[in-house]
Amino acid sequence: MSTIVDAFERPLTSLRLSVTDRCNLRCLYCMPEAEYGWLPKSDILDFEEIVRLTRLFVSLGVRRIRLTGGEPLLRRDLPALVAQLAAIDGIEDLALTTNGVLLADQAEALRAAGLQRITVSLDTLDRATFVRLTRADELPRVCSGLDTAARVFPGFKIDTVLVRGVNDGELLALVAEARRLGAELRFIEYMDVGGATGWTGEQVVSRREILSSLTSAYGPIANADSSPSAPAARFMLANGQALGIIASTTTPFCATCDRSRLTADGMWYLCLYATAGLDVRGPLRTGASDDDIAAIVRRTWEQRRDRGAEDRLASRDRGAFVPASALKRNPHLEMHTRGG
Ligand code: GTP
Ligand code: 5AD
Ligand code: SF4
Repeated sequence: MSTIVDAFERPLTSLRLSVTDRCNLRCLYCMPEAEYGWLPKSDILDFEEIVRLTRLFVSLGVRRIRLTGGEPLLRRDLPALVAQLAAIDGIEDLALTTNGVLLADQAEALRAAGLQRITVSLDTLDRATFVRLTRADELPRVCSGLDTAARVFPGFKIDTVLVRGVNDGELLALVAEARRLGAELRFIEYMDVGGATGWTGEQVVSRREILSSLTSAYGPIANADSSPSAPAARFMLANGQALGIIASTTTPFCATCDRSRLTADGMWYLCLYATAGLDVRGPLRTGASDDDIAAIVRRTWEQRRDRGAEDRLASRDRGAFVPASALKRNPHLEMHTRGG
C-alpha cells in the first residue's frame, strides 16, 4: 500500500466521512439557521459507495477514519456501515464524533459493530444555556449519552467549543465533569468556518486565556504527549488530569495537516476552509474503475497546497468566511456539510 504526500510533503492519512448533512441541534457556532440548502437525497452515497471509496482511500495510505455529520447518528443503520468499515484491512483507527443526543440508544450497537473510539460534543452543563446554544432542550439526553459513553467507550473524548459570553464561565465545571466521566476534554477555539454563525474575533477564547484560567485554578500545567499531526495540544493538570486544546484559530496546525473530508454526497474537500472540492460521486456513478478514481484522488492530493487556517490568520479583516447568501446556494461551504 502506498502513501501519497501533497505539495508540502503532508501524507494523506486521515479521512473524515460525513454520513449526513442533517443535524438535530442548531448550535450557534456551527449551524444556527433553521433551514439550509440540504443535499438532495438521491445524491447521498449509499453504504456500498462509501465502503468502496473508503477502501480506495485506504489503498492510497489513509489509516484513520472518523465518521461525522451533521449528526452521524441520524444516519439510518449506522452500525451496519461501521461493521463494513471495520472489516477493511489497513484501517488502524475508526472513530466517530457525535452531539450525544442519540448516543445512549446506539453506543452498544456501534461498539459491537467495531467502532473503536468516540468523541462527544459538550459545551455546557446548564440546561438554559444548552437551549440558548443549540435551540433544543436536549441536555438530559446528552447527559445520558455521556454516561453511556463512559461505560461503553471508556476514556472517550469530549469536545467543547468555547464562545465568550455564552459558556466561557463553565470552563472549570466542564473540566470537573470530564474528570467524573473519565473522559479527556478538549477545548476548541471558536473558528470562523462557514458563514451563518456571525463569528467575531471577540468571541474567541484563546488557548492562552484557557491555559491561564486553568493555571489559576489548578496550579502549574505540564505539557503532555501529543501526536505531531493531531489538532489538539495535550496538557496535564497538577492533579494528573490530561486535557487538550485545539487552537486552530490563533495557532493553526496546517503545517502537519494529514486530513481531508468526504461529504455525504461524495464531494472530497482537502481543507476545512476549501471553497471547492473534488466530485468523486460523479465518476463513481458513471462507471469509473477504482484505478481511475484513485488516479484522480492521487493527482489532486499531490497538488494540494491548502493552509486554510493559516490563511485566515493572516487575513486582515477577519469576519464570516462565506456570506450567508452564498451558503444558501452552496451547502458544501458549511461546516455541517463537511463534518469539521
Ligand atoms: P482524535 O483522533 O481523537 O485525536 O481527534 P482529533 O484531534 O482529530 O479531533 P476531532 O476529529 O474530534 O476534531 C475536533 C475538532 O478539531 C473539530 O471539530 C474541528 O473543530 C477541529 N479540527 C479537526 N480537524 C481539523 C482540521 O483539519 N483543521 C482545522 N482547522 N480544525 C480541525
Ligand atoms: N468552531 C470550532 N469548532 C466547530 N465545530 C463546529 N463548528 C465549529 C466552529 N465554528 C466542531 C466542534 C464541535 C463539532 C460539532 O464541530 O468540534 O464540537
Ligand atoms: Fe488542514 Fe485546512 Fe485545517 Fe489547515 S485549515 S489544518 S490545512 S484542514
